[in-house]
Amino acid sequence: MTVLRWRPAVLTDVDALTDLFAACEQKDPVGLDVEPDRVRARLAMPGLDLARDTLVAEDAGRIVAYGETADMGTGPGVLRIRLTNVVDKSARDQATRRLHDWLIERASQLRKERWPDLPAMLGTRCGAGDPERLQLLADADFSVVRWEWTLVRDLNAPVSATAAPGGVELVPFDRRYDEETRLAHNEAYADSPTAMIPDRESWPSHATGLPTFLPDASVLALDSDKPDGNEVVGFLFTLDHVGVDGRPAVLLHCLGTRPSWRRRGLASAMIGNALTACRAAGHHRAELHVGGDNREAVRLYTRLGFAHTGRGHAILTCRPPTDR
Ligand SMILES: CC(C)(COP(=O)(O)OP(=O)(O)OC[C@H]1O[C@@H](n2cnc3c(N)ncnc32)[C@H](O)[C@@H]1OP(=O)(O)O)[C@@H](O)C(=O)NCCC(=O)NCCS
Repeated sequence: MTVLRWRPAVLTDVDALTDLFAACEQKDPVGLDVEPDRVRARLAMPGLDLARDTLVAEDAGRIVAYGETADMGTGPGVLRIRLTNVVDKSARDQATRRLHDWLIERASQLRKERWPDLPAMLGTRCGAGDPERLQLLADADFSVVRWEWTLVRDLNAPVSATAAPGGVELVPFDRRYDEETRLAHNEAYADSPTAMIPDRESWPSHATGLPTFLPDASVLALDSDKPDGNEVVGFLFTLDHVGVDGRPAVLLHCLGTRPSWRRRGLASAMIGNALTACRAAGHHRAELHVGGDNREAVRLYTRLGFAHTGRGHAILTCRPPTDR
């Protein structure tokens, strides 16, 4: 067994970390960034002190593990700290537990340094294909908030056409409606406890400003009776993506219908519209991630031909031991 060399990450690790993340995503996806630009942005995230908040393990000069504690800001009376524990399969026995212990310790320090008066909530993701780490987390009193599963659809299979409800026009994404779409998004996701509710600043990195965003395969639903403002009643964002089989795919990344427009077939029509656009653009496979507890959405997707891949990850949280 080789001895791993441990050190903090540095900005020049971007390519090596991108390789590690891509290899791990291929085996057991948890939604890590797999493009160098996004990994670079992650390492340069405001508030992330690389020297203290990250740890990498090298095996003969190759990075085989990465740990990170990230201050995700304060929620209602609590500091949220994200723990990232990424280990190449070849190094799991040596690195997973060591990183886990370091992350818990570092998270406690981070809270004391930055928000000594607030309790912390630790959050992390763990792939369905990593039962050992799931057990490690359960033993450390983490509990699963929810599972997210990856569903897939062959774009060559016929798409059943669902018409949009009367008075609604479906159009490809149009940047003029970007801010209005953000408001529609935040209204649609207001009741989803773990959903991100982006502000103006963080909105572009949510979808419409990403380099992988596909505007022509994304859909806006516009209420024709409200020509000035408030007319975006539904949206579906599509991204260029590498599928769970390692081949090119599109990702139906984010879908929502404003509450007063639900159960009229709008989401079904937007999905049908996007799938047709993706197929016309030469794509063959569509994937999406859905929360296992989001029954409405799972039913909708399976009705429209999406199937489970068996790939998915759990989102887990716990109070740090020092706060209990
Ligand atoms: C999930 C979501 C997008 C569904 O949007 P929607 O526009 O209501 O979806 P649809 O109307 O196409 O389908 C929803 C249900 O309404 C039913 N429906 C469709 N037309 C209908 C009509 N005219 N009358 C009654 N019911 C109807 C559909 O059959 C479907 O029911 P089923 O799943 O039991 O078959 C919406 O609930 C939402 O925005 N949720 C919050 C965000 C979210 O969870 N997004 C998905 C993340 S993965």
